[in-house]
Amino acid sequence: MRDESLGPTNKSLLLVSVCVNQRPITDRLPSCANRGSHELFEELEKMLQQQGIRVKIVKTACMNKCRQGPNIRVQKGRLFNCVRADSLHEIVDAVNTALQLRKSPTPSKIQGLTN
Ligand code: FES
Repeated sequence: MRDESLGPTNKSLLLVSVCVNQRPITDRLPSCANRGSHELFEELEKMLQQQGIRVKIVKTACMNKCRQGPNIRVQKGRLFNCVRADSLHEIVDAVNTALQLRKSPTPSKIQGLTN
């Protein structure tokens, strides 16, 4: 059971999706899991936690971009292709940018400040 005093639920967190679909190695199409997406998931999760960035990071099924995998999507926006361990910092940056955009004032709030 969830303690309501803990604040917003995971539903309000930014979503980061990591494709972990796996095909037999003999399949004609590659798959993200066969290219290390499980390890990327673990590393990305660790990086986000170490930086105190609260997101919901999930393992997902195929994103239909198999030849460009491993694939990681930030929210419903940017899809990162051919992700490698040394490019995970770009995803962390994108997450930070998305979080900043969420915090930025809406046009109605800005309008209220100008008049
Ligand atoms: S296996 Fe990852 S996009 Fe298809």
